[in-house]
Amino acid sequence: MSALIEAEGLTRTFEVSAGMFKTKRLLHAVNGVDLVVERGDVLGIVGESGCGKSTLARMLLGLVPPTHGTVRIDGIALERMDRRERARRVQPVFQDPYSSLNPRRTIQSIVEFPLVVHGIGTTAQRRDRAIEMLARVGLPERLAGHSAGQLSGGQRQRVAIARALVMNPEVVVCDEPTSALDVSVQAQILNLLMDLKREFNLTYVFISHNLAVVEHIATQVAVMYLGRIVEFNDAPSLFAAPRHPYTRALLASVLTPEPGLGIPDMGLGLSFPDPTRPPSGCGFHPRCSQRMQVCDNRVPGLSACDGAAGKVACHLYTEIPATQP
Ligand SMILES: Nc1ncnc2c1ncn2[C@@H]1O[C@H](COP(=O)(O)OP(=O)(O)OP(=O)(O)O)[C@@H](O)[C@H]1O
Ligand SMILES: [Mg+2]
Repeated sequence: MSALIEAEGLTRTFEVSAGMFKTKRLLHAVNGVDLVVERGDVLGIVGESGCGKSTLARMLLGLVPPTHGTVRIDGIALERMDRRERARRVQPVFQDPYSSLNPRRTIQSIVEFPLVVHGIGTTAQRRDRAIEMLARVGLPERLAGHSAGQLSGGQRQRVAIARALVMNPEVVVCDEPTSALDVSVQAQILNLLMDLKREFNLTYVFISHNLAVVEHIATQVAVMYLGRIVEFNDAPSLFAAPRHPYTRALLASVLTPEPGLGIPDMGLGLSFPDPTRPPSGCGFHPRCSQRMQVCDNRVPGLSACDGAAGKVACHLYTEIPATQP
């Protein structure tokens, strides 16, 4: 195995207005994220609504330029790739197949579109490739001339997956790919994604609110809080022995598959902080049951501890000099 995706110091800020006549504030949607994803891995990214998962995903896709930092795929920085090369390496599957597909276009033209944009193949070759991809995602050829508006949510997500795979990418970034679908369809789409991963040797970045799903399919997990990764580990270790108090609270909570609802009932008392006014020190300290004095004013780095697998960003696991306030 070798590193396929590397992110270094990845940061994205937005200027947001705090109201009329008020000065704009800087929001760190993603704040200094380092990541390494090995070829063949499924990296699960979890964390409450607004913690920066989609912004991170969009930077990995080259759809949002980072304010600082770099993403490299196979050793090549995304900003040094042209659009075609980027599309050949990394493709998205988004949450909502209703808004991500034009309902008036035919399914065949949607799946062919990346080939048309990048000038790949003849008309006949593109058609054959689109039909082949539709078959691979479980859609019969007779649906090729239907418009996306005629399909069910699950069928639309199959079309979105076929479109993502038509360029034969190495990486697929899935941002909540099943959370807009009926529960009965979610498992089918997840199984399809895992079958396709094996068939095409894909590497996935997989964002989900649903920890049970992440536990089932991820090989590695990154837990995000306020734009930072606070814990990273292989999935079995993370679920068996979560270390960060935030990860522990997440695992103890009953998660909602509904996007945008956050994570209820975490026993954390306070709600997710205003990201334009993040707490000092460790961003989690106001909600943390194991808060120490150092947490108020020092940001913990993400580091390995105890010689165990994984990394955690928490002062409980760092050696703090006795004189530290
Ligand atoms: N274009 C933008 N302009 C201003 N703020 C933004 C923009 N995009 C994202 N944000 C802010 O950045 C933060 C992270 O947003 P992001 O969408 O990445 O979170 P998320 O973890 O994907 O949330 P969810 O689970 O709800 O999808 C949020 O506070 C959000 O309001
Ligand atoms: Mg999101």
